[in-house]
Amino acid sequence: MDKIINWGILGCGNIANKFATDLQTVSGSVLRAVAAQDLDRAQNFAKKHTVERAYSNYTTLVNNPDLDVIYVATTHNFHYEHAALCLAANKAVLCEKPICVNAQEARKLVELSREKDIFLMEAMWTRFLPAVIRLKKDLDSGIIGTPQLVQADFGITKPQEAGSRFYENKLAAGALLDLGIYTINFANIVFGSHPERISGYAQFTNQGVDQLSTYNLLYSEGRQALLSAAVALPTPHQARIYGDKGRIVIDDFYHPQQYQIILNGKKPQQVDEIFDGFGYLYEAREVQQCLLGGKTESMICSLDETVAIMQVMDDLRKQWGLRYPNEN
Ligand SMILES: NC(=O)c1ccc[n+]([C@@H]2O[C@H](COP(=O)([O-])OP(=O)(O)OC[C@H]3O[C@@H](n4cnc5c(N)ncnc54)[C@H](OP(=O)(O)O)[C@@H]3O)[C@@H](O)[C@H]2O)c1
Repeated sequence: MDKIINWGILGCGNIANKFATDLQTVSGSVLRAVAAQDLDRAQNFAKKHTVERAYSNYTTLVNNPDLDVIYVATTHNFHYEHAALCLAANKAVLCEKPICVNAQEARKLVELSREKDIFLMEAMWTRFLPAVIRLKKDLDSGIIGTPQLVQADFGITKPQEAGSRFYENKLAAGALLDLGIYTINFANIVFGSHPERISGYAQFTNQGVDQLSTYNLLYSEGRQALLSAAVALPTPHQARIYGDKGRIVIDDFYHPQQYQIILNGKKPQQVDEIFDGFGYLYEAREVQQCLLGGKTESMICSLDETVAIMQVMDDLRKQWGLRYPNEN
């Protein structure tokens, strides 16, 4: 029988709750310990998810010798510090998106993981969902010809409250890092490469982050992506991929359960690929399989790809003059 993978969770907030719920359905993985800055929050979380240990500090968590991997679920600005803390304690890391605030931080983490030969992955869960895996196969089969244009939008409405991780500059907030990252990942998945040229525009909040931003990415051979994200403007969350033989329309593209293939002059065909739970168990399974296989990174969400996407976001922010604390 395979070894059980023992998990810890660092940060007991919103997404950690959903991830912990899904992790319970992953056979061969067990959530053994959690840590929050507040002991009550950690204990309540542990009780809710039937976890043995709850800590009021992250250092005790990462030094727990029973753990194989830590899921880092704090806000963007803390990802570098918290993932580095885990790696320094020789723990594998699944870190929420974006893996860091900028490419420089991401490169440092990747170096650390490669130097120490320890697994590291950004929790870009979309890449592991059954519908996205099938979509990629359909695209590779040439079903719509060569994809030439991707359009995707990810706009939501979050209240502009003080301390909100969607608006606070000090929490590395904004539409690009939170939601635009999904659109860029999606375009890279479709084209199977990185953009060669990047341009974009942003509308800023009074906290100095992008509340609405658009990105125009140019890939090889003139292929293009037109993308947008917003934290104060709801949009349909749809992606459309156009090729010379037809198009594919994907509702809720960042967590799809179906998509429509519309070949030129033909009726739409629907493809259904339902996911279980909230959809986070597939990334957890990937981590488990990588650890059991002795791998230090995932080929579906590689570290070079993660850094390249951070660099795209750096380039966009540079065009807009958007900086976070401690960035020169
Ligand atoms: N994959 C997805 O679908 C998905 C969805 C939502 C969010 N996310 C990502 O997950 C991460 C967390 O998002 P969330 O919605 O879960 O955030 P959250 O609930 O607001 O915060 C998560 C944790 O971060 C720490 N934290 C929050 N604000 C802080 C502050 N001002 N100072 C110090 N620590 C603070 C707390 O850790 P303690 O509990 O230890 O105090 C909190 O529990 C983000 O990077 C986000 O992009 C991913």
